[in-house]
Amino acid sequence: MLILGIETSCDETSAAVVEETGDAARPWTIRSNVVASQVPIHREWGGVVPELASRQHIRDICGVVERALGDARTRWTDLGAVAVTQGPGLVGSLLVGVAFAKAAAAAAHLPLVAVHHLAGHIESLVLQNGELPLPAVVLVVSGGHTSLYLVERPGGYQLLSRTRDDAAGEAYDKVAKLLGLGYPGGPVVDRLAAKGHDRAVALPTTRLTHADRNAPALKGDLDFSFSGLKTAVARYVAGKKGYDPFSEQEIADICASFQRIVVTSLLDRLFDAARRHQARSIGIAGGVSANSRLRAELQERGGRREIPTFLPSLPLSTDNAAMIAAAGLRKFRAGILAPADLNADASLPL
Ligand code: KG4
Ligand code: ZN
Repeated sequence: MLILGIETSCDETSAAVVEETGDAARPWTIRSNVVASQVPIHREWGGVVPELASRQHIRDICGVVERALGDARTRWTDLGAVAVTQGPGLVGSLLVGVAFAKAAAAAAHLPLVAVHHLAGHIESLVLQNGELPLPAVVLVVSGGHTSLYLVERPGGYQLLSRTRDDAAGEAYDKVAKLLGLGYPGGPVVDRLAAKGHDRAVALPTTRLTHADRNAPALKGDLDFSFSGLKTAVARYVAGKKGYDPFSEQEIADICASFQRIVVTSLLDRLFDAARRHQARSIGIAGGVSANSRLRAELQERGGRREIPTFLPSLPLSTDNAAMIAAAGLRKFRAGILAPADLNADASLPL
């Protein structure tokens, strides 16, 4: 069976065709995965402007879907279902994908599947690597989210912890802005960090030990926090005002020092959670999983502790519709379909 996936939750318009293989260990293959990025539009404003994002999705969605079907040599009549990101994300952006998917499913007489964006990121690991040894602990880390999930059975996602404030990707973007490095910040900070000394600037690490009043069901001691780190970088940068601007080396040192703290705090909690839940594998997905230090240290720590670790390929790390199609197939096979009056939900829980 073939499924069409549609993703418009933030600033990429994406459509993909994914095929079921019939092989339980490697359940899906990608036929096409088209991503129209809006980065050049938002770069001018230093971050995503929601109103501009939704307007651009409207312009791009038809062409992106046609291209995904064309690349996959697939006609509407070859499809078995349509999957779409229902949330979380920017509501105006989500609405474009949801409205398009509902109309397309109705016109082509296809079942509709509603997908949680983070379920898509988690399934990007399976799309890339095949089914993970379970139970698995998966960190989803992007511009909007930093959350740890326990996966005990395929398609079951139990939230273990999340950030109390900024997402890790958001911290990257804010630090890049402070240093005048442009948007998005992750890739450029990652690149500059390679040339810096990672202990040159003393920055604070956070470890939360108390429960969160806003999430009484979670213990809280595996929660993340990045806003203090961002503020520490802001103070460090402000302290320099009035003197000469930072040299290239100083900027690289700040990037490296910041990156060391982010990567360490992500991996400490991830491996801590894996130990507590006796996980048989570990995964990292989402835009920040493209980070070179995070990828290298994950593999290094996994090797030391003799636990298999998994990552998506770089194109599957950032937002894309193939991962939504994969998560959609999982739900379709579980018999969970969306109603014809499906609505977008900006803060959809998983
Ligand atoms: O998953 P994604 O495409 O969109 C969201 O759902 O947020 O993630 C985008 C985020 C941005 O914050 C970007 O700065 C970050 O991922 N990112 C990185 C790297 N590449 C992208 N962060 C650190 N290092 C990278 N190499
Ligand atoms: Zn995402």
